[in-house]
Formats: sequence, C-alpha cells, structure tokens
Amino acid sequence: MGKLTGKVVWITGASSGIGEALAHACWEEGAHLILSSRRQAALLRVQTVLPAANDRQAMILPMDMSRVDDLPTAVDQALAHFGRVDILVNNAGISQRSMAAETPLDIDRRIMEVNFFGPVALTKAILPTMVAAGGGRIVVVSSISGKFGYHLRSAYAASKHALHGFFESLRLEMYDRGLRVTLVCPGRIRTDISLHALTADGTEHQQMDQGQLQGRSAHECAARILKAIFRDEEEVYFGGKEVYAVWIKRFLPSLFSRIMRKRSSD
Ligand SMILES: NC(=O)c1ccc[n+]([C@@H]2O[C@H](COP(=O)([O-])OP(=O)(O)OC[C@H]3O[C@@H](n4cnc5c(N)ncnc54)[C@H](OP(=O)(O)O)[C@@H]3O)[C@@H](O)[C@H]2O)c1
Repeated sequence: MGKLTGKVVWITGASSGIGEALAHACWEEGAHLILSSRRQAALLRVQTVLPAANDRQAMILPMDMSRVDDLPTAVDQALAHFGRVDILVNNAGISQRSMAAETPLDIDRRIMEVNFFGPVALTKAILPTMVAAGGGRIVVVSSISGKFGYHLRSAYAASKHALHGFFESLRLEMYDRGLRVTLVCPGRIRTDISLHALTADGTEHQQMDQGQLQGRSAHECAARILKAIFRDEEEVYFGGKEVYAVWIKRFLPSLFSRIMRKRSSD
C-alpha cells in the first residue's frame, strides 16, 4: 500500500519537469492521477511510461491555464471521471527573461494569467467539491522568486508573490473546513523552464540557462514535495545554495540587496 492509495491527485504542468516527476512519484505511492497541461502528445508520453497498474488510472486532461473560463469545464470532466479530487497540485507555469522597463504590459499579463489567475481559477472551481467531501489539499508550486524579486523576472516574481498572498489567505479562511495548503518554493531545478521563458517580444527564450543546468533534479524536487504533503507542511524551500537568499533577505535585507546587485541574471 502506498501512502496515496485511493487518493486522486490532479497535477497541472504534468507534461514535463517537476510536474512529470511528481506524476511518477505520486503514481509510485498508489494515487490515481489527472495529468494536465496544453500539449496532449506530451501528456500521453508521460501517461504511457507509467508502470502498469490494473487497479487505478492516470487520466489525461489537456487544458490551458490562461483560459480561465474553460477551467470549470475541466473540473467537471475530472469529477465526472473520478468523483472527487483529493490533492490539486497547481504546478504549471512559465518564466520570464526580460527587463521590467522593456517588457510590454501584455507580456506581464500573460505571465500573471498562467502563473496566478489560472491556479486561482482552478482552485476556486474545485473548492466546493473538496469542502463538501470534508477537505483536501492544494499544493502550489511557487518559487524562491515568490520571496524576492530578481533580475529579468519582474512579472514572474510578481506572479509568484501573488500566489503567496492568495493561498495564505485561503489557507486561513478554509482551515476549519478541512482545506490544507502547501506552498512550495523551489530554487533552481534542472527543467526546460528557461527554454520556454517569455522574452519582451513574447517569444520564448529558447536557452538552457547555466543556473537551470546546475540545479537540483526534478526527481529530487518531486520527492521533497511529496514529503511536504505527507508531513502537512505549509511552506517548503528546496534547491541549492540559492535558497539561502530567502533567509538573507529576511534577516539582513541590506546585505541581500548588495549581493543581488552583483549577481548575473541567469
Ligand atoms: N525549474 C526551476 O528552476 C523552477 C524554480 C522555481 C519554481 N519553478 C516552478 O515550477 C513549476 C514547473 O516548472 P518546471 O521547472 O517543471 O518547468 P517546465 O518543465 O517548463 O514545466 C512547465 C509545465 O507547465 C505547463 N504549462 C506552461 N504553460 C501552460 C499553460 N498556459 N497551461 C497549462 N500548462 C502550462 C507546461 O506544459 P505545456 O507546455 O504542455 O502546456 C509544462 O508541463 C512552474 O510553476 C515554475 O514556475 C521552477
């Protein structure tokens, strides 16, 4: 028996990186899965390589987090299939590689739509069913950029900060109704995130940044997220030395600014 046997776990951004690794980790723990992202073929690839299990299913549910009006329909489809969702992992996201001063507002909005309004809309749509079932867990994959601003990440950092404000409030409001919220703040994780990061003209960065290459593996990150779920942790930091920046910012803010001004942008 796995620790998630009988549980339904819905993972957004399951077609690659942290979401894909988390899909495998949850599957190993016995969960039923709902795998979402935009690219159906990539989701199928993830579904296909999950080890066979007769007693449970991994459902593919393609969706675009920026099309918030479509998300309640996706929730209806998930509930029609499994009847409930025990854990929603809001993991889908896009990063940014552009100076704030050069980034048009519509690019800022695109990043906010995917990283902030999408998770908020999906959570609001699933919440009534979770509460009616006696509770559930929302996992939110934020970032250490949800704790401080960084070069070339103005809208990205803003979207991740916004997640903390929203989901900390939700956690307080819904605690007595059985809702638990886990905010995950990874540092650098070796995924395709920098390839798909938006530049000022709205095209993808298409470069694997050094920071990403040298980061921790998505597999390790997924294992840490699972541990946070099992331990009912409210906020988790995971990565390499870059995670110390969270504590330096909190306790030595002037030193933090001096260090960050000297850092390169990747
Ligand atoms: N890698 C890091 O260093 C790092 C650090 C801190 C936080 N994070 C966070 O971790 C999360 C996962 O990122 P990752 O590193 O695993 O990068 P990734 O490999 O690029 O994965 C991003 C996932 O989000 C999905 N996605 C992107 N836009 C979407 C949209 N509009 N609608 C639905 N799905 C969408 C992508 O799938 P499709 O293209 O198929 O839609 C993909 O599955 C993100 O929230 C990111 O901000 C990553």
